[in-house]
Amino acid sequence: MMKIFSPCFIMIIVALLVATVSATKLNVPRLRLSHKDLLSTNRSSIFSGHHGHLSVTAVFLDEYRDRLFLGGKDVLYSLTLGPVSSESKEIFWPPLPGNREDCIQTGKDPQTECANFVRLLQPYNRTHLLACGTGAFQPMCAFIYVGHRGEHVFTMDPLNVENGRGRVPHDPSFPFASTFSGGELYTGLTADFLGRDSVIFRSMGGRSTMRTETDQKLLHDPKFIAAHLIPDNDDRDNDKVYFFFTEKATEAGEREGAIHTRVGRVCANDVGGQRVLVNKWSTFIKARLVCSVPGPHGIDTHFNQLEDVFLMRTKDERNPDVYAIFSTISNVFQGFAVCVYRMTDIREVFNGPFAHKEGPDYQWGAYEGRVPYPRPGVCPSKIINQPGREFGSTKDFPDSVLQFARNHPLMWRPVYPALRRPVLVKANIPYKLKQIVVDRVEAEDGLYDVMFIGTDIGTVLKVIALNNGNSLETEEVTLEELQVFKVPTPITSLHISVKRQALYASSPLGVAQVKLHRCETYGKACAECCLARDPYCAWDGSSCTRFIPNSKRRYRRQDIRHGNPALQCVDQNLSEDLDVTEDRVVFGTENNSTFLECVPRSPQATVTWLVQRDDHKEEVKLDDRVMSTDQGLLFRNLFHQDEGVYICRSREHGFTQTLARITLEVLQGETVDELMSRGHTGNSDSIKDRSTGTFRVWMPCSAYSRGGSSSQIGQSRIWFKDIMQLIGPSNLPHVEEYCERMWCNDKLRRKHKSMIEKYRQAQESARKTRSKSSGERNRTPRDLRAWEE
Ligand SMILES: *[C@@H]1O[C@H](CO)[C@@H](O)[C@H](O)[C@H]1NC(C)=O
Ligand SMILES: *[C@@H]1O[C@H](CO)[C@@H](O)[C@H](O)[C@H]1NC(C)=O
Ligand SMILES: *[C@@H]1O[C@H](CO)[C@@H](O)[C@H](O)[C@H]1NC(C)=O
Ligand SMILES: *[C@@H]1O[C@H](CO)[C@@H](O)[C@H](O)[C@H]1NC(C)=O
Ligand SMILES: *[C@@H]1O[C@H](CO)[C@@H](O)[C@H](O)[C@H]1NC(C)=O
Repeated sequence: MMKIFSPCFIMIIVALLVATVSATKLNVPRLRLSHKDLLSTNRSSIFSGHHGHLSVTAVFLDEYRDRLFLGGKDVLYSLTLGPVSSESKEIFWPPLPGNREDCIQTGKDPQTECANFVRLLQPYNRTHLLACGTGAFQPMCAFIYVGHRGEHVFTMDPLNVENGRGRVPHDPSFPFASTFSGGELYTGLTADFLGRDSVIFRSMGGRSTMRTETDQKLLHDPKFIAAHLIPDNDDRDNDKVYFFFTEKATEAGEREGAIHTRVGRVCANDVGGQRVLVNKWSTFIKARLVCSVPGPHGIDTHFNQLEDVFLMRTKDERNPDVYAIFSTISNVFQGFAVCVYRMTDIREVFNGPFAHKEGPDYQWGAYEGRVPYPRPGVCPSKIINQPGREFGSTKDFPDSVLQFARNHPLMWRPVYPALRRPVLVKANIPYKLKQIVVDRVEAEDGLYDVMFIGTDIGTVLKVIALNNGNSLETEEVTLEELQVFKVPTPITSLHISVKRQALYASSPLGVAQVKLHRCETYGKACAECCLARDPYCAWDGSSCTRFIPNSKRRYRRQDIRHGNPALQCVDQNLSEDLDVTEDRVVFGTENNSTFLECVPRSPQATVTWLVQRDDHKEEVKLDDRVMSTDQGLLFRNLFHQDEGVYICRSREHGFTQTLARITLEVLQGETVDELMSRGHTGNSDSIKDRSTGTFRVWMPCSAYSRGGSSSQIGQSRIWFKDIMQLIGPSNLPHVEEYCERMWCNDKLRRKHKSMIEKYRQAQESARKTRSKSSGERNRTPRDLRAWEE
């Protein structure tokens, strides 16, 4: 049996709705697109393997060959990314014979551990890729023949498999970072069966294998996130490989469990020492990466845990921007931040003082003594050579240099982000930020970095951070929230194809290809296009389309900074375009609650309500009885005087538009009773049982039948469910069923409509009668009988 909403429940609901409006307005995405929206507009498609359950563990996006290579559990895929049809090829790649059984023998899990999880896919030479997998705790590597550009071949010689120790971890769940350069593979990982030997390795190529020291601990339980080769200058001898990771912060003293994020680096031409540090890195140094926001009382909130790093490469290959996602999770606070670092700041810290501790009982401080020459961390190259003293390789470095390097791996100063603060902060959100990629987009007024951020619930946020003039404040604008995967699942990697203008998001459910932009989605009017503030899109005079720089098109309107359509779209028939008003009639019952639904396309817009009675228009007075919520106007207790035409207007960035015009008619007691009891004769008993006036009149069931976008429908459904949750989950299926049957069933809806129509006629004639014989208040059952005929 359905219960009627008690005023108490409604109060709770309203409080919740009102709270969410005010707290999150600025942080909510401008547009939310559901999985269904993305599929139905061809914005995205999903590849989940030939057997329907590909959990992606490695990705290599090959822009040159126009192919996407994927690694999973015992499997490799090659997908062509052509504009028309895409084609996929598969290689089955299980562990070597016997290894799976051995792995199971050691007590590991047959499903999640004792298989070959591909962790590494790197281009090797013009025809081959290097692939490495965990091989059921026996790491192995192989070369995959992928052919030349234009041909789609994908084969592997299963006999030509190498030992992959030091190239990928044994455990598929262990963190791992790698980069392949100059025929050599740099890896940051745990390189043993037990996962205790944390190490930075260099392997393959002609030189002997290099690794970090074992006896002096240079790394403390590191969790490697990324590795990249970044040149210093034109001299290849100064090329350095940077590692990004978090580790236990030994310098933080007694504080148990403190972790810091690091950037560490080695020279690519490091070959170790002659007598000390033989085949061990002699140029390894590291520094702390700080990402924090100033808090009250001068105490900063630090985001210490690194989640992902993206290198925004530019024409100047020496100075990419380093985008990094950080998290902090404590009992009181869960937050995420994106910080951007400049290479010049990182280099400056590495050129600064070393961190030093005189002995176990001393404090950490900056090393102030004499630093031996060549300074540790500097690569052997022309610039450090002195007359009569040349350093051809690290083997020529004096022992004093190597000793100093072993004892001082950490720099004293930390690296701060550009502007000393994050470009984006998200606190106490019901999801986690996991992955980031950035696309630098040319717009009418300059370059914008569009961030695509993958979450742990299968969504991707498309965000820009705007720097307002000279102030340090950044404004973050979430342009879109894309529900890429149908069900919540963590995004494990993101890649952008500039050529295809597509994003590839992988997860345990496969890989999604998503178009970076779809400008039509924003609407059909100049103002809507302008309010979107999407650097990819501009108004071209007749529609919202992809902005193409330097094109010959004369007419282009875009305002990313301010999103001010009043300035951009003056001559664009503003009001006419946008007042796509929906005219509706809603019936409410006296002394009962009623809801007038009105949801703006953008959650960032604020809604105002006007009411029109006898040519007089005024703003609706809001109070405890009449409340404006996220989804519309709620009358908790309807008076007869509330009758009128309600106008819902949205306002965003100074721009106003009318969204709906709703005629509210107030039914009086007996009328409703009649309507309920008579309207349903002939319907099934279950419906009759459950019919209650309150419920029917104000439920936003119109959302089901309205021709709005499916995302709007989705939102109404969610909202509807939220309310139901409050009322009591046990009733949920009944309520849903009831709503569907009562309002969303076409036959019933038509019936209902004609009922209402008849009622209106009846009311109209009653009104006429009333005005003839003024003073008569009763609406007699006589009028109502007309419905049944
Ligand atoms: C999506 O693609 C299919 C097949 O290519 C096409 O038939 C359909 O019209 C497209 N839909 C939209 C909304 O572009
Ligand atoms: C690429 O490497 C593979 C594996 O070592 C080798 O067989 C092949 O000949 C190489 N191809 C080229 C073009 O160098
Ligand atoms: C604006 O609307 C009016 C009336 O519909 C129309 O005559 C006029 O051509 C429109 N102007 C533009 C620029 O579209
Ligand atoms: C609504 O409440 C008023 C005041 O309590 C009362 O006079 C009126 O009869 C009620 N109307 C209905 C339909 O219950
Ligand atoms: C709402 O209207 C229904 C139907 O007329 C009535 O049964 C119910 O008592 C009313 N609820 C309130 C709270 O007035």
